[in-house]
Amino acid sequence: MNPIIAQEPPSNEYSDVYNKAMERTAWWREARFGMFIHFGAYAVPARGEWVKSNERLTTSVYQKYVDEFNPVDFNAKAWAKTAKAAGMKYAVLTAKHHDGFCMFNSKLTNYKLSNNFNGRDLVKEFLDAFRAEGLKVGLYYSLIDWHHNDYPNVGNHPQRDDKEYSKQNFKWDNYVKYMHGQVEELITNYGKLDIMWFDYSFDDYSGEKWKATELVSMIRKHQPNIILDNRLSVHEGSSALQRTIKSIGDFESPEQGIPDGLLLDKYQNPIPWETCLTLNGGWGYTEQDHNWKSPELIVQSLVNCVSKNGNLLLNVGPNARGIIPKESEAILAEVGKWMALNGESIYGCGAANLAKPDWGRYTQKGNTIYAHWLHPTIGDLNAKGIEGDKVKNIYLLQSGAELSYKKTWWGNSDKGNLFITVGSSPQKPVDFDTVVKIEMKK
Ligand code: GLC
Repeated sequence: MNPIIAQEPPSNEYSDVYNKAMERTAWWREARFGMFIHFGAYAVPARGEWVKSNERLTTSVYQKYVDEFNPVDFNAKAWAKTAKAAGMKYAVLTAKHHDGFCMFNSKLTNYKLSNNFNGRDLVKEFLDAFRAEGLKVGLYYSLIDWHHNDYPNVGNHPQRDDKEYSKQNFKWDNYVKYMHGQVEELITNYGKLDIMWFDYSFDDYSGEKWKATELVSMIRKHQPNIILDNRLSVHEGSSALQRTIKSIGDFESPEQGIPDGLLLDKYQNPIPWETCLTLNGGWGYTEQDHNWKSPELIVQSLVNCVSKNGNLLLNVGPNARGIIPKESEAILAEVGKWMALNGESIYGCGAANLAKPDWGRYTQKGNTIYAHWLHPTIGDLNAKGIEGDKVKNIYLLQSGAELSYKKTWWGNSDKGNLFITVGSSPQKPVDFDTVVKIEMKK
């Protein structure tokens, strides 16, 4: 638990912003598990979505990848089935990444996939297919644009060290107009979007530099319930002394890591958050990265997030043909098997008011506590803080079998120190995480 910090009580205005964010994110906080999809022309060089920046490629050199990019095997329905079978409830696709290449049929540029894809609008196909599977849908849109002529060579722009390039007369307002126009296209031409995921702000390129207030009011005019991530402005720092929810962003977006506890605002209210995570090291397809995470680590990471009131947005990077790598498919299938039996301990669940036990973690929904047994133990599972006479039933979630529990005569066997019998010692959890369902009396 974070230490209590004395802060001025929130203003009515802040409470209003906070309550609206909680309202909008209600379904999303229930859903807990989503798919991130990084797909673009960078799948051709297959060295990650930052290749243009990392290798300082000019737009004309990068063009060979754009010309070559023709995802003939792209099948949005197959992607949607993969996400659904993994137990995911929503998905977010890159409509435009930092390279500026548009995966949707924008009228504001010719730099778009539909030109060499028989006019097909990949974003529309994605949205239709995922909605048809009953999943919520979101789009990622890069604020940064390494292609637009009026976007200066700042930050990690591929031409950041190119003195000649710097001499150009960048008309920032033109870029902002283009960016707002594209977001409006996405917001108005593609039906109901559940999430808009902006990426990202840095230095002075933050907040009102993007005309964020105007942008968000346009978005909310058309889609009042859409959920926005927090990257329209730079992070205020990871300290609970400063953290707030902003009217221009509903949730925090930790990347490639899981916070060590609940995320609270400076008034001690929990803040919605979502860790985004890759399956190997890269977001976009990386041919030579074989460092895949195990399904076990993914299940443990998901449980870790939910045990702290967070979500997990797990990434796939389809290859240039449009296929999700077979290694990713295999991991997701295993995760899906676990979710089919244990999803009840994830969906609609959040933090339990109990200390983290040695053998795993807890999640909770109403009067039911889920004990996630993650690590081998000796003896019974010590569920400290749970009082035996308040327990109604204890079951193994995956089989429904009843488990017995008792107090011990040794150690700190005071009240509220329950021991759940999971078998004869030594014991190892099975299937990555053995979930024990503890129903408490009302
Ligand atoms: C980063 C990277 C990016 C990736 C994103 C996902 O900000 O720039 O390539 O899309 O994080 O969170």
